[in-house]
Amino acid sequence: MSSQPFVQSSPFPTTSGSYRRKSKFTFKHLSQLSHYSTTCPLRVIAHIDLDAFYAQCEMVRLGVPEDQPLAVQQWQGLIAINYPARKFGLNRHITNTEAHKLCPELILQHVATWKEGDEKWAYHEDAAKHIATHKVSLDPYRRESKKIFAIIKDCLPAAPLQRVEKASIDEVFIDLSAQIHSVLLDRYPELQGPPPYDDPTEYLPRPSITALNWDTDALVDLDASETEDDDPDWDDIAMLIGSEIVRSARAKIREELKYTCSGGVARNKMLAKLGSGHKKPNQQTVIRNRAVQHFLGDLKFTKIRNLGGKLGDEVVSMFNTDTIKELLEQPLEQLKRLGDDTGSWLYETIRGEDHSEVNPRTQIKSMLSAKSFRPFVNTFEQAVRWLRIFVADIFSRCVEEGVLENKRRPKTINLHHRQGSQTRSKQSPIPQGKAFTEEMLFDLAKNLLAQVVVDGRAWPCANLSLSVGGFEDGVADNKGIGGFLVRGEEAKAMLTSGRHASDAQTEMKGLQPSEKRRKVESGGIQRFFIPREGSRDDVEQSHDPFRREEDRDYSELGSNSDSPEAIDAAHSDEAGRLTLLKRPSTPENHDVEADIPPDFLPPSAQPQSLSQRINHFQQQSLDTYFCSRCSTHLPLTDQAEHQDWHFAKDLEKDLQAQERSNFDTPTPRHTPGLPQKSQSRGRGRPVGSSSTVKGREKGQQQLAFGKQ
Ligand code: CTP
Ligand code: CA
Ligand code: CA
Repeated sequence: MSSQPFVQSSPFPTTSGSYRRKSKFTFKHLSQLSHYSTTCPLRVIAHIDLDAFYAQCEMVRLGVPEDQPLAVQQWQGLIAINYPARKFGLNRHITNTEAHKLCPELILQHVATWKEGDEKWAYHEDAAKHIATHKVSLDPYRRESKKIFAIIKDCLPAAPLQRVEKASIDEVFIDLSAQIHSVLLDRYPELQGPPPYDDPTEYLPRPSITALNWDTDALVDLDASETEDDDPDWDDIAMLIGSEIVRSARAKIREELKYTCSGGVARNKMLAKLGSGHKKPNQQTVIRNRAVQHFLGDLKFTKIRNLGGKLGDEVVSMFNTDTIKELLEQPLEQLKRLGDDTGSWLYETIRGEDHSEVNPRTQIKSMLSAKSFRPFVNTFEQAVRWLRIFVADIFSRCVEEGVLENKRRPKTINLHHRQGSQTRSKQSPIPQGKAFTEEMLFDLAKNLLAQVVVDGRAWPCANLSLSVGGFEDGVADNKGIGGFLVRGEEAKAMLTSGRHASDAQTEMKGLQPSEKRRKVESGGIQRFFIPREGSRDDVEQSHDPFRREEDRDYSELGSNSDSPEAIDAAHSDEAGRLTLLKRPSTPENHDVEADIPPDFLPPSAQPQSLSQRINHFQQQSLDTYFCSRCSTHLPLTDQAEHQDWHFAKDLEKDLQAQERSNFDTPTPRHTPGLPQKSQSRGRGRPVGSSSTVKGREKGQQQLAFGKQ
């Protein structure tokens, strides 16, 4: 690593020969810079990533001294570890107990959780013990993330000179090109004039400067063919200006919110991101164009975005190496064994080329709330309790997005359900004409769950997730138009449910936008990222969204997580995390159920001796029950599921009837899921006509159960 970037090299640096007076860049290149051209050789991209983000959030919130080791706990695992604690060897793969052994003075702060029935998440004492009844909330971190993002934007000039992409909860990409263009013209008037002969292909004059002050930046050493004695050209100066901008943004975040972060400055997103992770914490790394090969040569390609997961594994096994240096020896044709597009993409990537755009879309496109169940969920009641929490979680986030003011609202709702290796998704449109309420979402969610149950084999359920997507800007204050329009909108939403359903799938893909982008950029590589298109009722086995989620989390733990942009980053939450904790590759198989009191475990999860099991089996085959609704004898063990099925069918019809009647009558004002009349709680009772409230009996029971 060189700390002396440029030294005064020659006594006659700019006059010794004509070649020294010309830059290698042209007026056209300069002008491309102002247009954010992705092929401009003067391009400068920055990446800023917060250090140990969740841990810093907790330190600031709790007022903990900066040298105090602290880790953020989620159930029995650690999800963020501050730098003082990392010195003790703590990492994300160990349990809280192991962490305490390694670092006795460690502060362990559990993430905030939603408790069923509560209106808001909170920091609960002993939260770790409530994995069976609580759900993690990342709201506190999302809020801090928003503040940080606002500061960064504040430090930059207004659009069109500003282009920022929120890449995950704790990182952004900034395309500094246009801003740097304007600074260059300001500082170096020689660049202002029209090109000689009005010919944009004319070379720029060489910079008059011979030494650059890189201040405190970590500067990557130059490629072997380069020397610091070469005077800087405009790309070096552009990088320097970029580095100044990043330094001042980081200082502002530090000053106003106390957070430290790391930065990377380079010619594209891929390099900038590698740069920000190169030296942590609280540093920034500049990778000049003349240093790219040197920088990449020492790296493992699995550290590169999109090469951390399955694709990376495939490359490693195909070429028997994980280093860039060795992969560089492979000719393009060899790399194309991975597919034409993938091969070409990889060929470029390991040579430090990346022409992807900084995508300034910052609006949230979808929100997801998920939970992995250990023990599994075995009944409709339990599942609905979780839906209640998901809905509360999503609704509160929607409120922050301005749904109540009708600024933005989602168009679709999706439920993913996993049973064994099978994942099912159900989607429906969210009626656009009527008020967006928590109860409306809850009704829709229950309806989707009912559809899963109707299909059968819903239990035991290992994972449930609810998401809303297709956020659209609403027209604030359109209330005056009245019921006429409202019905029209609603009718449209219902009549076009087919179209919405496919939108919904796009939105689910929106959950992996970096992958989606890849699809647009280079078709063939998509096979590694994009789920197979499915029907409205997807049964995805090979492309299981939950599994993808885990892969993503798992593969990227070593590097900085590369969460997709423009979605609510909470989706990197329990769905992936819990399963991660249970991966056998962790030194110890963290048993996330360890702290759950035995009475939370369903009978199937209770430890059983062999004789107990045999008894159980014999009983299973002997005991039957009679379903009065369909006049059939069924094994007793299927009773609950069978009744769920009837219940779900009824609920489905009930909701359909309700939707139909919405065309003529206003929505009834009651709390769905709660009784309108008192109901018997008898489980096997045949449910009455589909449009009666009896159809909600089980849901009611569930909620009561949830409050216990
Ligand atoms: N995170 C997560 N699951 C992952 C990766 C990250 O929940 N698989 C959370 C972490 O808790 C973290 C935040 O997302 O605080 C940002 O992740 P990342 O930038 O990868 O790590 P940091 O903890 O910020 O640490 P670093 O200083 O290395 O960036
Ligand atoms: Ca980080
Ligand atoms: Ca990050």
